[in-house]
Amino acid sequence: MIELAPSILSADFARLAEQVRPALEGGGSVLHVDVMDGHFVPNLTVGPATVSALRKVVKVPLDCHLMVDNPDEFIPAFVEAGANWISVHQEACVHLHRTLGHIKSHGALAGVVLNPATPVGTLEAVLYMVDYVLVMSVNPGFGGQEFIPYSLEKIRQLAMMRSAHGYAFRIEVDGGIALDTIAEVVRAGAEILVAGSAVFGHGDIRRNVESLLQTARTAVDRRV
Ligand code: DX5
Ligand code: ZN
Repeated sequence: MIELAPSILSADFARLAEQVRPALEGGGSVLHVDVMDGHFVPNLTVGPATVSALRKVVKVPLDCHLMVDNPDEFIPAFVEAGANWISVHQEACVHLHRTLGHIKSHGALAGVVLNPATPVGTLEAVLYMVDYVLVMSVNPGFGGQEFIPYSLEKIRQLAMMRSAHGYAFRIEVDGGIALDTIAEVVRAGAEILVAGSAVFGHGDIRRNVESLLQTARTAVDRRV
């Protein structure tokens, strides 16, 4: 099932609830929350307080993308704040298997994220236990960057590994997703599509989500 996950990173933080509403009315079914610590990535964003504030105004799952060092320290606080999905970077986790188990034991869906330069093969030993894999199609830290085309190859590889082993994880993609890139990521096998600037960066938020979803759904029929 194709889902669009609006990323609040490109929304107006002073009018968050007001901007999130049309994004969900337009068909956004998961809300993507980018958490950055100024160490793992060169930017700072939000923490559990924002997740808890959003939890009070939206019903859809909150997808917390942790771009932080030592994510284990923060997992309980995010779950308590209302996070439903939590993803951690392969590159930030020395004990990745333990961290993913930690997320699951707290009752959230567990995702693992790959930076653009990290090969899919590094996840081989944990794919059986993850609920989703997030392929970064830009270097994490900022919205509005250009899509890196090699990400398509990584999405295809993950889809092949999944069918070869009969795994159930879903494939999410994040970075540079817009009307000109969304069809190819869907054809490559991605099903959860994160979009920040393409949703909140210009024009009508609700209409932006509707067009992205329509383009993605049309592309499903042409998957190879
Ligand atoms: C970047 C974040 C993304 C960001 C994507 O580090 O993980 O979720 O919001 O922004 P766009 O869609 O503008 O590339
Ligand atoms: Zn993200």
